[in-house]
Amino acid sequence: MSSILFPLSEEHEMIRQTARDFAQEKIAPIAAEFDESGEFPHKTIQKMGEMGFMGIEVPEEFGGAGMDTLSYVLALEEICKVDAAHGVVMSVNNSLYAYGFLHFGTQEQKQKYLRPVASGQAIGAYSLTEPMSGSDAGTMRSRAVREGDFYILNGRKSWVTSGPVADYVVVFMMTEPEKKHKGISAFIVETKTVGFTVGKKEPKLGIRASATSEILFEDCRIPAANRLGQEGEGFKIAMTVLDAGRIGIAAQALGIAEAAHQASLSYAREREAFGQKIGEFQGISFKIADMKTRIEASRLLTYNAALAKERSKITGERFTQEAAMAKLFASETAMFVTHAAVQIHGGMGYSKELPVERYFRDAKITEIYEGTSEIQRLVISRMELGLR
Ligand code: CAA
Repeated sequence: MSSILFPLSEEHEMIRQTARDFAQEKIAPIAAEFDESGEFPHKTIQKMGEMGFMGIEVPEEFGGAGMDTLSYVLALEEICKVDAAHGVVMSVNNSLYAYGFLHFGTQEQKQKYLRPVASGQAIGAYSLTEPMSGSDAGTMRSRAVREGDFYILNGRKSWVTSGPVADYVVVFMMTEPEKKHKGISAFIVETKTVGFTVGKKEPKLGIRASATSEILFEDCRIPAANRLGQEGEGFKIAMTVLDAGRIGIAAQALGIAEAAHQASLSYAREREAFGQKIGEFQGISFKIADMKTRIEASRLLTYNAALAKERSKITGERFTQEAAMAKLFASETAMFVTHAAVQIHGGMGYSKELPVERYFRDAKITEIYEGTSEIQRLVISRMELGLR
């Protein structure tokens, strides 16, 4: 049971229960199979779209559910308790993709490119990273050159979540390299455009049912109307969107940690060794206490970041630090908890007969994508010290 102090509204309880039921009924039976095969679970992802999970905060006029950030976090947490791979597809659609349109998109762009993704009929992706540009996102090499009413895109992007299955990608490219990060612009690309191809699919440790790949642009010609925001505004868009994305990853980490904790509780209550339940040994019970405490702290930071994002809709204030703290703490908690969960389960924690080893593998990425833990510490400390 969560010991959260502020009460959830009826609407929050409802979306949480709906997501919980859906995850249990539809995702739980197939999660291990898709993790093993690495296949993309098209059917369940489509069903999640039909349920309204792909654009929870997007206004109804653009195909979304018109709910608040906490609703999104609660639903994502429930999905990730069962399978973090389904969760990351949901997270990218809701935040990395949709949030950019809500903030920087024109009415036409929202109707044409946000509506189908928010309503679950299409899949969106976000592409910032390159083989030689990761944490130092401002150093990208991909180029977009304006030619009349078009841009010609060239370059190679990597680690694109949903890259092989996306219908639309928001991609960041240099328009004026001499201006460094101020020379980056954002573009919306339909993946059926000539000159766009999907590159190498990444074989991954965890979240294996989600599809991650390189994407390649070779003289890919797109209308100038598909530029998102102003020329040179791309870095700011990328960072603004990542603030929203990081709350999603915090919720994902929280879900994974909760699942591992629940499994550990059941096992510690049932499994006997040396003539007693293993939960009666202090070596196990103290682990359970530390897991629970860190999970509750993660929950408070994550819900707080959700409330800060909600507040920003009225005040326009950034929620950068709240999002970074939530992601940092929740992802490190997910690693701590899943590591302890494997240990509590002993040999069974190492076996594919139980989902505990999957939770352990899935947790690791939350410390890496959408900004590593080191980048989160950089963001938090710079703001704390008044350096940014
Ligand atoms: N919101 C709005 N603007 C922001 C911002 C934010 N959160 N953060 C920075 N900016 C603005 C600054 O105000 C500054 O603007 P001006 O030039 O007008 O003053 C500009 O951006 C540059 O800021 P910095 O000087 O702080 O930039 P930096 O080069 O030092 O980089 C950084 C800062 C925090 C390291 C940043 O590069 C960063 O977050 N890196 C990590 C990138 C990342 O998370 N990558 C993951 C990619 S997505 C993914 O994982 C794949 C997937 O599909 C899930």
